[in-house]
Amino acid sequence: MKVESLTTVAGSYNLANYQETNTSFNWGDVEKSFSWYDTGKINVAYEAIDRHAEGARKHKIALYYSDATRDESYSFQDMKEKTNQAANMFKHIGIEKGERVFIFMPRSPELYFGLLGAIKVGAIVGPLFEAFMEGAVRDRLENSEASVIMTTPELLRRVPLQDLPALKHVILVNNQEVDSQELAQAFPNVQFYDFNKTVKEYSTSLEVVWVDKEDGLILHYTSGSTGKPKGVLHVHYAMLQHYQTGKWVLDLQEDDVYWCTADPGWVTGTSYGIFGPWLNGATNVVRGGRFSPEDWYQTIDKYKVTVWYSAPTAFRMLMGAGDDVVKQYDLSSLRHVLSVGEPLNPEVIRWGVQVYNKRIHDTWWMTETGGMLICNYPSMEIRPGSMGKVFPGVEATILDDQGQELPPNQMGNLAIKTGWPSMMRKIWRNDEKYKEYFKWEGWYVSGDSAYVDEDGYFWFQGRVDDVIMTAGERVGPFEVESKLVEHPAVAEAGVIGKPDPVRGEIIKAFVALRRGYTASEELIEEIRQFVKTNLAAHAAPREIEFKDKLPKTRSGKIMRRVLKAWELDLPTGDLSTMED
Ligand code: PRX
Repeated sequence: MKVESLTTVAGSYNLANYQETNTSFNWGDVEKSFSWYDTGKINVAYEAIDRHAEGARKHKIALYYSDATRDESYSFQDMKEKTNQAANMFKHIGIEKGERVFIFMPRSPELYFGLLGAIKVGAIVGPLFEAFMEGAVRDRLENSEASVIMTTPELLRRVPLQDLPALKHVILVNNQEVDSQELAQAFPNVQFYDFNKTVKEYSTSLEVVWVDKEDGLILHYTSGSTGKPKGVLHVHYAMLQHYQTGKWVLDLQEDDVYWCTADPGWVTGTSYGIFGPWLNGATNVVRGGRFSPEDWYQTIDKYKVTVWYSAPTAFRMLMGAGDDVVKQYDLSSLRHVLSVGEPLNPEVIRWGVQVYNKRIHDTWWMTETGGMLICNYPSMEIRPGSMGKVFPGVEATILDDQGQELPPNQMGNLAIKTGWPSMMRKIWRNDEKYKEYFKWEGWYVSGDSAYVDEDGYFWFQGRVDDVIMTAGERVGPFEVESKLVEHPAVAEAGVIGKPDPVRGEIIKAFVALRRGYTASEELIEEIRQFVKTNLAAHAAPREIEFKDKLPKTRSGKIMRRVLKAWELDLPTGDLSTMED
C-alpha cells in the first residue's frame, strides 16, 4: 500500500521523552514515581496542584484565563489556595467521599476551583456542558443522584429543582441577580449558597481527603445508539494515563504554554484540559466564550501558546476562515499541534503544514477510555489519515464479528486489551451496559471500525453503531428521536448522521407527522427549536425531512441504516426484517 508520509521535524520536540519502541515500559514504573505508591494515599487534585505549589513551581503560572470581560492568571500556589477554599466550603456543607458534585457552568476560573475543590474532599465530580437544556440536565442529575450542583443564576433555570430529591445544595457562581432567600422559600429542601461571597470566608489550608486509587473521580455522560446517556465513571488511578500521555504525546515540557480548546463538559476538557497538563506542572490556558477564528489566533498570539490540542471541526472551520486571517497574528510560538474527536482529514494536515508550518498530530480515544490510546507521537512519521500507533503499555487490535483477531489491512472492530489505567470502571447504575463493552473476553470493544497496517498504524473507518459525531460531539440518535416525538406534531422520527464537509456529520431527522398536521417550513423550524430548547443546541437536527412512513422492523424499530441508504443513495441491503 502506498501512503504519503510526513516525517519527523525533530528540532523543537523533546525526543528523549519519547520511546516508541520502548518495550520495557510498564505502568507500574510510572506508579512508583509517585509518593502514593508508598503511602497508598492518593488524590488527583493534590497531585495536579498542591504537589507543584509545595515545590519549585510554586510561583509558576498554572492558569491563564480570559474571556470577553476577564483576564486573569493564577500560580500553582494561588490554585492551591483557591481549590482549598472551595474544598473547605464543600466540607462545611457536609459533602463526603463518593458523593456526586455536579458542575454546570461556562468556563471560568471558578469552575476549575470548584471542580478540583470537590475532588479534594473525595467527591465524584460531574461536569455538564453549558449548552444542555432542562431535559439533558434532568437525566444526568437524576441518574447520578447528585447532591450538589454548582451553577450560575442563568443556568439554574434549566435545573428542575422540584424533581430532584437527591439534590440538597445549590452553589451559585457569579450571582448578581437572584435572591437566595426567595429561592430558599420556593425550594425549602434545597440549601442555596453564593460561591463568590462565601468561599472567601474559608481557610486556604486544608486536610486533603485521601482516597483509594480505585475510588471514583469523575463521571462523564456520553451517548450510545440506544437509551439515555451513560454515566462513564473514572477513578483516581486514571492519572497515570493522563500524566504519561501528557508527557509523551502532548510532549509537555517545563516552559510550555499549553492550550486545550475543549470544554470540561466533555472528556477532552478534563483529561487534557485539567489533569494531563497540571499533572505535568504545565501552564494551562483557558479561553472562555465561543469559537471565532480571530479570538483563537489571538489567544495563541497573546499567551505565546506552544502546545495546542483541538479538534478536526475547529481546524476545518479555521481552514474555512482563510489564510489571510492567520497572517494577522504571530503564531510562531506554536511547536506542537494535536487533534482528537473525529477523523482528521489529510487535507487539513497538509493545510496545517502550509499555514502553521506544523504537522497536526491526530490522537484517538473515547470518553470510556479516559485517555489517549492510539496517537501520533511527536517523533513519529505521520501518515495523514491514520490515527497513529498504540501508546506504550497499551495493546490494540482488530477483531472480527466473532471476536477473533484479524490480520493487518482487514477492517473490523477496534478493540483494546483491558487493563490500561484510565479505563472506565463502570457505567453508573447500569451494569448491563458496562458488560456490553466486554463481550469478548479480555477486550474492550470500542464501537469503532478500523484496520491496522503492517507497520502498526491504525486507520479509522467509521462507527459500528448509529452514534452520530457532529462537530466533535457525540450524539445518540435515540435521544434526539425521543425528544422529537415529544413534539405534538411528530408521530415517528428516525435520526441519522449525514456527512458534512465541516462538521464531519450533521444531524438529519426523518419525521412522520401526526394526523392533522401539514408539512411546512415553519413547522420544520418549530420542531428544530423544540429539540434545541429541550435537549441541547448541538443535538438539534440541521435537516428535517417529512415522510409519510418510516422504515421499521417488524418489531417496530426504526431502521436507521435504511434511512441512511436513502439519504446517501446507497443500496439498502437486507430488508427481510422490514415490515411491509
Ligand atoms: O468514533 C470515535 C471518535 O470519537 C468517538 C469517541 O467520542 P467521545 O467519547 O465523545 O470522545 C471524543 C474525544 C476523546 C470514538 O469512538 N473519535 C475519537 N478520536 C478520533 C475519532 N475518530 C476518528 N479519529 C480520531 N482521532
